[in-house]
Amino acid sequence: MTRTVVRLASVDSTQSEAFRLAAVGAADGAVVVADTQESGRGRRGRDWHDVPGESLLVSLLVRPRLAAAALPQLSFVAAVAVAEAIETATGLAPRLKWPNDVMARGRKLAGILLESRPGGAADPAVVIGIGVNLGQRSFPEELADRATSVLLETGRTPDRDAVLEALLAAFDRWRARLERDGFTAVRDAWRSRTETLGRRVSVEGVAGTAVDIGEDGALLVDDGGRVRRVVSGEIDAAGA
Ligand code: BTN
Repeated sequence: MTRTVVRLASVDSTQSEAFRLAAVGAADGAVVVADTQESGRGRRGRDWHDVPGESLLVSLLVRPRLAAAALPQLSFVAAVAVAEAIETATGLAPRLKWPNDVMARGRKLAGILLESRPGGAADPAVVIGIGVNLGQRSFPEELADRATSVLLETGRTPDRDAVLEALLAAFDRWRARLERDGFTAVRDAWRSRTETLGRRVSVEGVAGTAVDIGEDGALLVDDGGRVRRVVSGEIDAAGA
């Protein structure tokens, strides 16, 4: 696939820039990368802060050939692709925490944010934002015991473009697999790296053992009486 790659020194958010490009007709596969963001955003309305040059900050525009109900599956495609890319580029083998946090030693190494907007005359635009901690030597106090970087895990800061290249290749491969064969292989790949399934979790008021993820990406939690579906949320720190 020939794709547009927009590289910026600084931007409000690569997500916002990708939606602006989508609105003026950018094609499926367009990518926005920035050295720093002034108002990077995370899941659940949170901010996503960075120190310039220490992270991979990237948004991918997807004009999905999928039913709307299957869109959450793309965030699992992204999680598997990010983990695989980090492994290819650095040798570190990340684990995945539901719904799509990329972890090392129980700490967050990368975060993924999927946002979608109706496309008007065009196909709907989905933008998948990925922030990977590459070269941080430390984190602010409130994150210090929850976040990590490739440098902290391996002693080396990887080349950002090498991680990006591996990420785009892995994303294209897993996305093609999803669109061709459905969710099964993607879910298997996610399961093979999970640090959530088989664990006791507490999420959105549901406590029990995480047993699987559903077709829609929901976490299936056995609370001892029945299996409950949690469609979105964040696993409490105590029950990670
Ligand atoms: C999370 O909360 O775990 C998701 C974090 C996603 C951050 C990335 S950085 C690149 C892209 N641009 C943004 O504003 N957010 C995403």
